[in-house]
Amino acid sequence: MPKHIILDSDPGIDDSLAILLALASPEIALDGISTIHGNASTAQVTRNALAILELAKAGDIPVYKGCDLPLVKESLLSPETHGNSGLGYAKLSEPQSRPQIKHGCDFLIESILSSPNEITLVAIGPLTNVAMAIRKEPRIVEKVKEVFIMGGAIQHAGNTTALAEFNTFVDPHSAHIVFHSGMPITLTPLDVTYQCIFLKADLDRLLRIDSPITKFIADATRFYMEFHDEYQKIDGCVINDPMTLALTFMPEICDYQELVVDVDISTGVGLGNTFADFYNYEKKAPNMKVAMGVRPRMFMELFLERIEKLAESLS
Ligand code: RIB
Ligand code: CA
Repeated sequence: MPKHIILDSDPGIDDSLAILLALASPEIALDGISTIHGNASTAQVTRNALAILELAKAGDIPVYKGCDLPLVKESLLSPETHGNSGLGYAKLSEPQSRPQIKHGCDFLIESILSSPNEITLVAIGPLTNVAMAIRKEPRIVEKVKEVFIMGGAIQHAGNTTALAEFNTFVDPHSAHIVFHSGMPITLTPLDVTYQCIFLKADLDRLLRIDSPITKFIADATRFYMEFHDEYQKIDGCVINDPMTLALTFMPEICDYQELVVDVDISTGVGLGNTFADFYNYEKKAPNMKVAMGVRPRMFMELFLERIEKLAESLS
């Protein structure tokens, strides 16, 4: 039986790869996408989600627009990382479909309450929608089956400030609400995603297949690779979001630690920084499982094989 997954996402180049991996994986039934500000505006990432689904002939999967702004902070987008469109150099035609009328937060709430202990929530953007949904309907905390979050940097440098990862920096207050909610969280931080670099050789392997999917990935990741080279001197690009999604059905890609994790919401240099109390000085119960070890080639092989199959089916 496939896992029923809701993707809360800010597509975004690596988000788009996570959407394609979900569509390419029989272990997953993608029930819908709620969109969130982050890599680009909510309006833009909503358009992108619709366009990516149509590119993969999955335009029947519903998309629900979510919150436009963080809970407290000013909006922070990342055109330097994902381009003004949010999809790098990729050009997708205007989607024919429209987002659903229902708000993304209500989609999360209604899906989880109507199917208790069946919905896997995969949150790969800032956590505003998830936090707002928890505040509006606290019962989702015990009704959701599991929550996979891409975010944070535990013992790794930040990718947005010296200390903070983008998703938790954009909306640290929402991350604080979610981290302390009691939801069954598995966190995929930069500590593991930065060990899995999508290389030019990996892209060349995909380009052996002539398909709109591989052309899209090439155009999107070319921009993303240029960013990683210019800003972080990395040869390739870090595909955080598809790794997070892969752990929902192939957890053995990573090794995990049950940890007490928090996020800094003070107004100093540490805002958005995530940290673990490894020695549990405060004697608290762990609030999440954290992926701290990874088998990089196991993930990349899975990703490439699944995308090759999807691309061939749509070539
Ligand atoms: O820090 C990386 C995360 O922030 C990824 O989810 C990326 O898409 C952005 O949302
Ligand atoms: Ca994302």
